[in-house]
Amino acid sequence: MSKKLPGTGKPTLASVAQYLKSGDVRNVVVMVGAGISTSAGIPDFRSPNTGLYHNLSRLKLPYAEAVFDIAYFRKRPEAFYTLAHELYPGKFRPTLFHSFLKVLDDQGVLRRVYTQNIDTLERIAGVPSEKIVEAHGSFAENHCIDCGKAMSTEDLEKFMAKDKIPHCKKCGGLVKPDIVFFGENLPARFFKLMTGDLASADLVIVAGTSLQVHPFASLPSQTSCPRVLFNLESVGDIGRRKSDVVCLGPCDDGVRDLAFECGWLPDLEALWAKTTKDGVTPEKEDVLHAIDKAAAEEVAKEEAEGANSATEIAPEISRKDVEDVVAAIEELEISKSESMSSKGEKDTMTVQDEKAKV
Ligand code: APR
Repeated sequence: MSKKLPGTGKPTLASVAQYLKSGDVRNVVVMVGAGISTSAGIPDFRSPNTGLYHNLSRLKLPYAEAVFDIAYFRKRPEAFYTLAHELYPGKFRPTLFHSFLKVLDDQGVLRRVYTQNIDTLERIAGVPSEKIVEAHGSFAENHCIDCGKAMSTEDLEKFMAKDKIPHCKKCGGLVKPDIVFFGENLPARFFKLMTGDLASADLVIVAGTSLQVHPFASLPSQTSCPRVLFNLESVGDIGRRKSDVVCLGPCDDGVRDLAFECGWLPDLEALWAKTTKDGVTPEKEDVLHAIDKAAAEEVAKEEAEGANSATEIAPEISRKDVEDVVAAIEELEISKSESMSSKGEKDTMTVQDEKAKV
């Protein structure tokens, strides 16, 4: 298969959509940074004024990146742990961009997401963990930096709750979350998967990153397939190849446009409507509202472009599907509560298990 965007002129998001819908694309590799989480309320690192590195004066660091430097952490761990309180996962809802990653997986075209972010919002948005490479680690696990002994998140959080620096029970060394600091190696998983993923990529999407930190920053130039950039500014060498598509602006807007061109906008809006800081939950009103909102947006856009037919709007069937699914959930809830009251206090999982066996 030739990994080329359709058409002969300058490629656009419409040609990317046509390529994505062609059935030839099976391996989209996405490479992201802090910019995909800014609309969730998490500052990126280097944006002027709003970036984290411009707002760390309170930590009195010798230079901004010292907060993530392993040698400095050994001398002054409290600088990192002050920041850790603010960045700790569980307080933020995934963005529309994170939900777009899940839509790519639902459409069967996502091969991998390489993320530099430690906020775990890709996982919370529902992207399967085997499709995620957290190149700069995450808060998911914690280890002693001297003997390597693991510390549970529960124990680490107990130290943090008392504003104490976590120390290893075994050797007394400093413990930190498995975030990759400057001076540390990236996870083996990054190197194990990178070569195969880059070689098999049919399309690379780069978003929300300044591409300043290597080896991650070199990933986009190691591919020969079409590349799309969703970023507030031009970065790396993306835009220099004829097949590159550069969308400067908020990445949420960029993927909304791409989803619209693919006919995936109702799915995207409905999926994002269900996201919360704890995961993806089907809220009836949100989902129905999102479907209606997306359909109305598509009508408005079609009318604005003077198109006659509005038949491409998400067909009534998708709203009906959702109503059927949600009605089934409600019916299950009613039957569960009826059987619980008839059988007295029982573990809800037991009731649900019996239902499942029927
Ligand atoms: N939409 C699109 N792009 C955005 C948005 C947005 N809503 N918000 C910010 N950006 C862009 C910025 O213009 C910038 O180009 O995202 C990029 C963010 O760059 P950085 O702040 O440098 O973040 P990142 O690239 O993830 O940093 C890489 O540096 O310090 C290390 O370990 C840290 O993983 C981090 C690495």
